[in-house]
Amino acid sequence: MIKIRRATERDFPDILKIQREAFSEYLNVYEASAWMTETLEGIRQDATDKAILVAESEGTVVGSVRFWNVAGVCVIRLLSVSPAHQGHGIAKALMTEIERLATGAHKFYVCTMLRTPRNIGLFLSLGYRPESLLPNHYHQLDLICFAKYRPFDSHSALI
Ligand SMILES: CC(C)(COP(=O)(O)OP(=O)(O)OC[C@H]1O[C@@H](n2cnc3c(N)ncnc32)[C@H](O)[C@@H]1OP(=O)(O)O)[C@@H](O)C(=O)NCCC(=O)NCCS
Repeated sequence: MIKIRRATERDFPDILKIQREAFSEYLNVYEASAWMTETLEGIRQDATDKAILVAESEGTVVGSVRFWNVAGVCVIRLLSVSPAHQGHGIAKALMTEIERLATGAHKFYVCTMLRTPRNIGLFLSLGYRPESLLPNHYHQLDLICFAKYRPFDSHSALI
């Protein structure tokens, strides 16, 4: 049974561990250190102006995601699920909870690495549509950015 809740400061070490484990799959493909070397001080600072959700399975934190609102745009970052718990709908549950909580957002915006068919499949399956490419972005990453608009039904019917 997966429970999604707001993170507290006590979750921060677990969140950093899951991030390190999840993003380590890119070690030989991308410069992944930005996601793997975040410190407790870094996440504390981030939490001052961003919301952080965790997914819990039987009392253990197994995933997390951060989001914040900029002029009605909900920006989503650092979606990560512990490798041992991937493929069970945890990322989808975290993303769905953001949509429920971010009531002030008319648009949801998330970027991922261009050459990650799994991630692209995830966002497409949640109704996100590709919006832009960011070639040679930070750490020489090529990113693809997705958007989803409220109201979900009427807008997706237009796409
Ligand atoms: C990307 C990530 C968050 C997905 O987490 P997850 O909990 O395994 O994802 P879910 O189980 O919710 O899967 C949701 C959808 O993703 C896609 N997906 C997940 N795993 C997949 C795989 N191995 N192959 C292809 N598609 C896959 C499917 O569309 C799936 O929907 P479906 O089950 O209805 O077919 C996780 O793999 C991860 O932490 N990766 C490393 C960090 C990362 O890349 N984060 C994203 C940065 S934006």
